[in-house]
Amino acid sequence: GKGAAMVTAVAYRLTEQARQIQQTLAEFRMKVEIERGLKKDSHKDATVKMLPTFVRSTPDGTENGDFLALDLGGTNFRVLLVKIRSGKRRSVEMHNKIYAIPIEVMQGTGEELFDHIVHCISDFLDYMGMKSARLPLGFTFSFPCHQTSLDAGILVTWTKGFKATDCEGEDVVELLREAIKRKEEFELDVVAIVNDTVGTMMTCAYEEPTCEVGLIAGTGSNACYMEEMKNIEIVPGTEGRMCVNMEWGAFGDNGCLDDIRTTYDQAVDENSLNEGKQRYEKMCSGMYLGEIVRQILIDLTKRGFLFRGQISETLKTRGIFETKFLSQIESDRLALLQVRAILQQLGLDSTCDDMSRRAAQLCGAGMAAVVDKIRENRGLDHLDVTVGVDGTLYKLHPHFSRIFQQTVKELAPKCDVNFLLSEDGSGKGAALITAVGCRQRELEAQ
Ligand code: GLC
Repeated sequence: GKGAAMVTAVAYRLTEQARQIQQTLAEFRMKVEIERGLKKDSHKDATVKMLPTFVRSTPDGTENGDFLALDLGGTNFRVLLVKIRSGKRRSVEMHNKIYAIPIEVMQGTGEELFDHIVHCISDFLDYMGMKSARLPLGFTFSFPCHQTSLDAGILVTWTKGFKATDCEGEDVVELLREAIKRKEEFELDVVAIVNDTVGTMMTCAYEEPTCEVGLIAGTGSNACYMEEMKNIEIVPGTEGRMCVNMEWGAFGDNGCLDDIRTTYDQAVDENSLNEGKQRYEKMCSGMYLGEIVRQILIDLTKRGFLFRGQISETLKTRGIFETKFLSQIESDRLALLQVRAILQQLGLDSTCDDMSRRAAQLCGAGMAAVVDKIRENRGLDHLDVTVGVDGTLYKLHPHFSRIFQQTVKELAPKCDVNFLLSEDGSGKGAALITAVGCRQRELEAQ
C-alpha cells in the first residue's frame, strides 16, 4: 500500500544519492589520475597513462592523397583504401574489407598475428588491383602504445581479447614492417600508428573544428583529447598542443575505485585474460557488461533464486552474454519491468539495466573530468566543445548514450558539450593522420 510506496520512494532517493556521490568521486579521482599520468615524476607508476600521440593538430581540410588504413582492436579487423581530396570539393572516398581474426590468432604468437594481418592486406590489394602502388599506411592499433614519434609505438600491454606472445614491449610498427618483408609480395610505407580514439576525434574534427575530444564506448572504453604541450611533461617542448591517448580503461588499477567495485566486478576481473588490469574498462565497456550480468546470474542461481539452482553449462561459458543481448533485453520495457519486480521481491535490485546505467554514469564521470580539464587549461569560465564518439555500446544500446550525456552535463556544468557520432572513425582518421604525417615529412625534408 501507501507505506510500501513511500519506503520504495525513500530507498530510491537514497540510491540516487549514493549514485551521485559515486559519480562525483569517480570524476574527482579521474582528475587526480590524469595529473599523475601527465607529470614526469609520477608518469612511470601512473595507471591512467596519458600517452602522447604526436598528433599536433586536428585536420584543416588541406589533407590530400590515397592512403591505406588498417583497423585492429575493435569488433572487426578491416583493411581500407581511403581517397582524400582537398580543395573546394573536399571529399573522402573509402573502400574496405572486413576480415575475421580467429581467436587462435589473437592469442597465438605475435609472428602469426602479424603474418595474418599482412595476408589480409595482400588479399585486399589484389582485390583493389593495387599491389604495386607502395601506398602510405596508417595503422589504427587500439591498444596502449608508448609513442616516441608518429610512426613508432611500443605496446605497453594487450587489452580486451588479445594476448599474442612476443609483442608487449615491442614496436608494433616494426613488427608490421618485418611481416611485410617476410611476405615479399608488396611494399608499404607505414607512416602512423593511431589509437581508435584519436582516429575518431580526427574524423569528427574534419567536419566540425570544435571537436577536440575522442571517445570509444565499445568493446573497450577509452578517450583522447588535445592537451597543452606544457602539461605533457614527458615530451620536450612547451608550445601548442598534442593529442593525448588517455588509456582511461586502466583507471582503478591502483585500487582507487575499490569502494565502488562489487563482488561481481571482482569475479569478472578474476575470470578475465588480464586480471587486475583495466578495472574501469571492465565496469563500463561492451566486452565486459555481459560478463557482469552473467556473474550476477550465476550468483542468483547458486543462491537458488533462479533456474531451480542449476547452473547450465552455457551459463558457465565466458563471453556467452553478448552486449547486444543486453541492448535487446533493455529495449523491451515491459519484460524488464517484470524481471525487475521479481528481483525486487527477492530483495535484489541489480539487473542488467542497473549495470548499463552504472556503466554510462561511470563513463560520463570520466568524460566530465576531461572536458572540465580542457576548460581549466584554457582559463575559461565556460567551454564549448565537441566530442567525437564511436563504439557499439554507445551506438547500439538503447539508453547508454542518453544516461552518459546527462551525467556529463550534471558533473561538468561549466561546459557545453556537443556529441558527434563518428562515421568510420578508425579508418578515415588513420588516413587523415597519415596525410598530415606525409606532409610534415616533406616539410622536414626541404
Ligand atoms: C582498450 C584499449 C584502448 C582502446 C580502447 C577502445 O581500452 O586499451 O587503446 O582505445 O580499448 O577500443
